[in-house]
Parts: sequence; C-alpha cells; structure tokens
Amino acid sequence: MRKSVEYQEPEPYVLCQDLFKIYKIADLEVVALRGLDLKVETGEIMGIVGASGSGKSTLLNILAGYDSPSAGNVTVGGRDLLNMTLREVMEYRRHEVGFIWQQTSRNLLPFLSALENVELPMMVTGLPTKERHGRALEILELVEMGHRIRHTPDKLSGGEQQRVAIAVALANRPPLLLADEPTGELDDYTAGQVLDLLGNVNREFGTTVIIVTHDPSVVRKVSRVVAIRDGKTSVELRRRVSFKPTESERQEEEVMEELILVDGSGRVQIPKEFLDSLKIRERARMSMEDGKIALRPEEERP
Ligand SMILES: Nc1ncnc2c1ncn2[C@@H]1O[C@H](COP(=O)(O)OP(=O)(O)O)[C@@H](O)[C@H]1O
Ligand SMILES: [Mg+2]
Repeated sequence: MRKSVEYQEPEPYVLCQDLFKIYKIADLEVVALRGLDLKVETGEIMGIVGASGSGKSTLLNILAGYDSPSAGNVTVGGRDLLNMTLREVMEYRRHEVGFIWQQTSRNLLPFLSALENVELPMMVTGLPTKERHGRALEILELVEMGHRIRHTPDKLSGGEQQRVAIAVALANRPPLLLADEPTGELDDYTAGQVLDLLGNVNREFGTTVIIVTHDPSVVRKVSRVVAIRDGKTSVELRRRVSFKPTESERQEEEVMEELILVDGSGRVQIPKEFLDSLKIRERARMSMEDGKIALRPEEERP
C-alpha cells in the first residue's frame, strides 16, 4: 500500500486576515479597511482594483510597512508586520519591499540623475560604490533606460520616469514589489508598456508583484485581479485558457472568470445590482437547492 503523503499548503507570501484600519481625525472615524482578507503566493503577479476611496492605498501602505492596521493579522514572507521593532521596520522597508507611487514626481529626486536615483537606496544600505554602480546600470538596462542614465527626471517623459522608478524600487532586490496606481498619470499605450515591464520583472527575478489600479484592463497583464469594495475584498477575476473545438483543430480561447470571495467567517458581499433587482433589503431567505445556495426576498418562500 502506498503511504499517503500529507499535503501541506505552501504559506502564502502575503497573508492578510481580517484587517481593519480606522483613521481618526478629531472626532471623526473613517473605516478604510473593514475585515479585509488577502493571500498572495510567492512569485505571483496580481492586481487590486476598486473605486477611489475603497482602501487600496491603505492596504498597500500597510504592506509596505508605512502604516499599521488597527486590528487583524498581516504577514509578509513569514514576518509578522504587527510585531516588529522600529529597527526591524526600517530593515523591512529597505530590503524587503520596493514601492512605486502614482505621482511620477514622488518616486524620484528631481536634482539627481536617473543613475544617481537608482544608486541612492543602495547607498542607504551601504553597498560598496563599485557594486552599486554596476548594479544600477544593470537594472536601468533591464527597464530599458540604459540610454538615459544621466538625465534628471525633468528631462524624462512620464513613462520614462516610471521606468526609472521601477529601477529604484528594485535597487535592493526586494522580494516584494508594490505599485500604487503606477500608470495613473500615463496614456493607455505607455501604461501598457509599464505593466509589461512589471511582468518582465516578475518573470526575470521571481519578484512577487502587487499592482493597485482603478483600471480593470490590468487583468490582461496579470494572473488575477482582486476587487476591493468598501475596505473588503469582494470578488476575484481570473483568466483561464479553455479549449474550443473547431472543425480542424482545437483552438485556445481566453475566458474571464469572476469568483465571489468567501472570507474566513463565511461572509460574502452580494453585488448591489442583485440585491436591488430582487428588492432584498435587510433580510432574505437562504436555502440549499440541488447543490446550490439560493437567496430569496423575505416575502418569497422556497
Ligand atoms: N491618512 C488618512 N487620514 C484619514 N483618512 C484617510 C487617510 N488615508 C485614507 N483615508 C480615508 O480612507 C479611505 C480609503 O482611502 P484610500 O486607501 O486612499 O483609498 P483608495 O486608494 O482606494 O482610493 C477613504 O475614505 C480615505 O478618505
Ligand atoms: Mg489610492
């Protein structure tokens, strides 16, 4: 008899469980994240979409170690982000994550050349000059900016600035790259190029990449996209290749799948359109029918 091997799920690289973030301004409380769950595997490239104000930047800032949640758990690469000393947080930010902001101007220092901008984070971590220089040139080649290394940001286009920003974020070879609307200020064509570049980085270095955007077309460039609604992950969009039989041969076809996310407590977010069209307000009837879960307005009985 074959011995059964116990299967163990690999630890996700990023794990958020029931995250809450409450901002307090004077007497006012803003709940930016309300019980958010998220798993991202090592080496994955994925997108996060959601309307403005849905909590995307809040989540990314927490993952980057810039901010901490009000409640919940968050681990990155096995590190508990809620239990780090100030020193550990500094180390984490320098070595473990690269961050790209939407505002092209925020990513680069205006008085430094592209090369100097990329060298700066390596100076902070104390890499020797020669190595620093070599590595900066190498990364700038990778982002196809090898011909613009002496230019200061004001001499570069928006797309070029974001390429250099990616190089800066990669300077210390972080295993995690976070991009907060990196294409928000770019035209569609340039945006596509920057997203392709993030894809290359993911393949080339095995960097785990999380891209926040309000552009749903990002789904074509990544393996899956998770949508955040009101501070909570609600649905996931996945690309799947299916085979469509034709007369002569099998043809590959890409289909988009939308899956609803069920959190650790069994909660789901029912799309507002569904609730509105069935006029479901505060109560509904739920039943199991032929292996399906059915939801009906209160007035209707199964
Ligand atoms: N520093 C802050 N202080 C107070 N409220 C904030 C702060 N940052 C974000 N918020 C609020 O939290 C909510 C989520 O914001 P944010 O994470 O920036 O959303 P998104 O990036 O999806 O547009 C919004 O209501 C926003 O106004
Ligand atoms: Mg934002």
